[in-house]
Amino acid sequence: MGSCFSVKIKAESPLHNGMLACCFRVSSTCGQKIGNDLSCSNSKISSVSVPSTPRTEGEILQSSNLKSFTFNNLKTATRNFRPDSVLGEGGFGCVFKGWIDEHSFTAAKPGTGIVIAVKRLNQEGLQGHKEWLAEINYLGQLYHPNLVKLIGYCLEDDQRLLVYEFMPRGSLENHLFRNLGTGASYIQPLSWNYRMKIALGAAKGLAFLHSDEAKVIYRDFKTSNILLDSKFNAKLSDFGLAKDGPTGEKSHVSTRVMGTYGYAAPEYMATGHLTTKSDVYSFGVVLLEMISGKRVMDNNRPPGEQNLVEWAKRYLTSKRKVLHVFDARIEGQYSFGIALKVANLAIQCLSVEPRFRPNMDKVVRILEQLQDSNDIGGSQNGISPSSTSNSSNGPKHHSQPCNSSVNEASNEKAASSPGPSAPHLQT
Ligand SMILES: Nc1ncnc2c1ncn2[C@@H]1O[C@H](COP(=O)(O)OP(=O)(O)O)[C@@H](O)[C@H]1O
Ligand SMILES: [Mg+2]
Repeated sequence: MGSCFSVKIKAESPLHNGMLACCFRVSSTCGQKIGNDLSCSNSKISSVSVPSTPRTEGEILQSSNLKSFTFNNLKTATRNFRPDSVLGEGGFGCVFKGWIDEHSFTAAKPGTGIVIAVKRLNQEGLQGHKEWLAEINYLGQLYHPNLVKLIGYCLEDDQRLLVYEFMPRGSLENHLFRNLGTGASYIQPLSWNYRMKIALGAAKGLAFLHSDEAKVIYRDFKTSNILLDSKFNAKLSDFGLAKDGPTGEKSHVSTRVMGTYGYAAPEYMATGHLTTKSDVYSFGVVLLEMISGKRVMDNNRPPGEQNLVEWAKRYLTSKRKVLHVFDARIEGQYSFGIALKVANLAIQCLSVEPRFRPNMDKVVRILEQLQDSNDIGGSQNGISPSSTSNSSNGPKHHSQPCNSSVNEASNEKAASSPGPSAPHLQT
């Protein structure tokens, strides 16, 4: 179960280049976000047409197709926010598992109705409120198979909650990094094919956000914000930092620097200029974490290896050394040719110059080609990713029924035991 009582440290620190000061807040379990410059000045559309004019809080809440829940209803649905039903914890607060009736949306007995995930904000004032509203603003209007479905919200006195579809396999972070170095019982590492399937699904989610239809910059792409359904389809969650992309002739939006240390693009950290290419950089970081099985930042690694991107860059461009970066636990599940192509994609996404990074449509195309050409083994956990392929165009978002199988239970446990994360940053 996740700790909801994390210790936070706040420290001012200059960035590498000394141009900006950063403000970190670190929790004992995972990175904490602070602040948000979201103005909610624009609205985003997908299948519904919404005017792109400034929107007040009332308009955002009213225009979404979301259900408004009472606090008592969610309290009952989560059995009084039981500590043993914690699914995870982010910078915002804890996420609890609960049950509601699919017709009346009222609390249901555990194991009946539909399963939901309820995020309850730490009551720490205004900043959390902005992130809460940002999630409603974006997820209330954007629909895509690779975005998590927001069902509703609760706003009552100081209480702010969000109600999502339940994602039975939790976050990618827990699958990649759980039990590493803890001495806990061995759990099979995520197979290569699943990693590539997840990379493709997450890339599709980002590509949709960047498309003309949505024009959104996600700004917080990282493994803990990529959730997995029962078939390992990836869905992006946590839109608290999402931002409207530039309009008209503008190439970027200017913001305070926010995000998570290690994932944020260097030029964004240095200037506060945010573009879709900032998300592409973060995608490169996650891709690198997926192929290496290593966290982007880890102070427990030897000096020189603590920053994954800096360490890996010297190997990724060398045909002779590239495999050094790859996760040895899944060796043999991919061909050398495929490894080279994925390494090359990661290198491109991690280009220091944003214009050398591909856009997300191109990333999707490359990953699709790789998936088509990857005929090497790799299926684990008893299910082949190809046989459970991402139904990108299929029916969307239905909460998974509660499944009490051993496999499911262990995943749930993993989902509620987040390991240490990179700290968030802000200037
Ligand atoms: N819909 C969900 N289904 C299952 N687990 C979830 C769901 N939403 C969040 N979680 C878990 O809670 C964690 C924190 O959620 P997140 O939305 O990222 O919160 P924060 O905004 O505080 O970072 C995730 O990393 C994941 O482990
Ligand atoms: Mg998060």
